[in-house]
Amino acid sequence: MRDQFGRDLRDLRISLTDRCNLRCIYCMPAEGIDFRPPEELLQDDELLLLVRVAADLGVTKVRLTGGEPTVRRGLVELVKNISGTGGIEDIAMTTNGLLLEHLATPLARAGLRRVNVSLDTMDPAKFHRMTRGGRVEKVLAGIAAAAAAGLAPIKLNAVVVRGFNDDDVVSLAALTLERPWEVRFIEMMPFGSVGDFAEAGVVKSEETMAKIEAALGPLAPLDLSGQDPARTYRFAGAAGRLGFVSPVSQPFCAKCGRLRLTADGRLRLCLLRDDEADLLIPLRRGASYEEISEIFRAAAFRRPFGHALAEKLFPQARVMIQIGG
Ligand code: 5AD
Ligand code: SF4
Repeated sequence: MRDQFGRDLRDLRISLTDRCNLRCIYCMPAEGIDFRPPEELLQDDELLLLVRVAADLGVTKVRLTGGEPTVRRGLVELVKNISGTGGIEDIAMTTNGLLLEHLATPLARAGLRRVNVSLDTMDPAKFHRMTRGGRVEKVLAGIAAAAAAGLAPIKLNAVVVRGFNDDDVVSLAALTLERPWEVRFIEMMPFGSVGDFAEAGVVKSEETMAKIEAALGPLAPLDLSGQDPARTYRFAGAAGRLGFVSPVSQPFCAKCGRLRLTADGRLRLCLLRDDEADLLIPLRRGASYEEISEIFRAAAFRRPFGHALAEKLFPQARVMIQIGG
């Protein structure tokens, strides 16, 4: 499956819920977010049907996101059924890690291959502040459990926010000296009601990288091709690597082959634009497999190119917790 610009579409990110057991400052407002009533979210059978449609159209990789995907009921069974879908070769998950301590092994058995765990800082007080109440010890235990369960390679995501964790990038980067992990530094993106906050606090990758090199020494480039949105580097002799994901300063739209399915059953055509196609309503109206497949394919074809962050236009309809990253 390709879009109108010829980009190959093999990667589907599925949000399993719009809820989360944390409340990160860049992901949701402090209050006033409307969660969808459960009946307006895709049920397991509906979700599996859409995965089958996507796989038949050529999708081979699925990433489960949220909200926080591990708070979805029946997650392990769902992962098992997705991994049993013909054509799906790779299932990964982006999680905050809080519940991984006990879920990592069952998820790995169900067919999950890899996890990206959000870790903005290892400092308990700063973590508490950025997540509005989270305990970093639980996340570190979750990461250890993921490593023990063989969910490899482990990637850790840090969104860099000025005044919150911009000094913590050095200790996070230093983790890669000993551990075979990829620590990724992500430029904060502006969405809806947290847009102004995000614009004001963004730290560009260039600055983050300079700070890390000043403290820990030079980084050698590994992959700057843009096939992966992260540009990756390594310290001499290190076990792991660093990634820089720079949606604000270096958009990677030309190489983007991602489709996003929101928890409420919409195909979102670009992370940073509000264009969406509704699949839930046709599903519940009893549309045939062929009709759903055609709606999916046609929507995917009209994926837009390029976002408008440089013109200070950011998506308004949803904040990140409602999209899934
Ligand atoms: N900008 C960049 N990344 C974000 N994430 C959540 N909100 C934002 C934002 N505004 C990241 C989280 C997590 C993933 C789901 O998306 O840190 O790693
Ligand atoms: Fe939850 Fe992840 Fe959003 Fe934080 S970034 S509030 S952990 S969904």
